[in-house]
Amino acid sequence: ITAKLSDGPLNGRRILVTSGPTHEPIDPVRYIANRSSGAQGAAVARALRDLGAEVVFVTGPATVRPPEGVQVIEVESAREMEAAVQAALPADAGVFAAAVADWRVASASDRKLKKSKDGLPVLEFAENPDILKTVARMTTGRPKLVVGFAAETNDVVDNATAKRKRKGCDWIVANDVSPATGIMGGSENAVVLISDDGAEDWPRMGKDEVARKLAARIAAALAG
Ligand code: CTP
Ligand code: CA
Repeated sequence: ITAKLSDGPLNGRRILVTSGPTHEPIDPVRYIANRSSGAQGAAVARALRDLGAEVVFVTGPATVRPPEGVQVIEVESAREMEAAVQAALPADAGVFAAAVADWRVASASDRKLKKSKDGLPVLEFAENPDILKTVARMTTGRPKLVVGFAAETNDVVDNATAKRKRKGCDWIVANDVSPATGIMGGSENAVVLISDDGAEDWPRMGKDEVARKLAARIAAALAG
């Protein structure tokens, strides 16, 4: 257990972090998910805590454990995550590392679908709320700093720059998850930080190192 620093640069700051995948129900026993482990989000929460922040950690069903010393709010679906995020505000900053499912099954069944009786299921989808965009575009009570993540497989900087504009967030931490990089599911990350100042390439490093560097940047931005 790491002691919370009482004199860290983020002491007295409340920071919201989303993390992990979401699970979107098909019926009571089945769901649609994605490959996020929640490792980068957990590392960010830990690094912010280590700098003294009060961290609210809203996490989907991740494979890594949440860090100690943060307030953990566990959710399943994107809509539950959105509600938990709204309830956790206000905050000084928000870091949206979750791999939120873009779609949910439009009308999940409240009973288990049966193969004999129901035949082949046809799933209809509905778009999930964009949690990052909603928070980044808040007109009152918006966190001072809103940071999104973007996992791209091609044209990383272009896609992430456009994404930052579309969402209205301050920074985007973009990474290349094309299979050749071997990054998806691994312990390392190679990111580009997109901000008003342009695109800054960070060398490939451990996810915990990315997290510490990002936390230090967040501390500097909130202090400035
Ligand atoms: N995000 C979110 N809510 C969603 C979808 C995404 O909060 N419903 C956040 C993610 O946590 C991440 C950022 O938005 O910080 C970018 O997610 P990404 O999936 O890359 O962007 P999308 O807008 O969903 O675009 P696409 O998946 O089509 O590339
Ligand atoms: Ca998406």
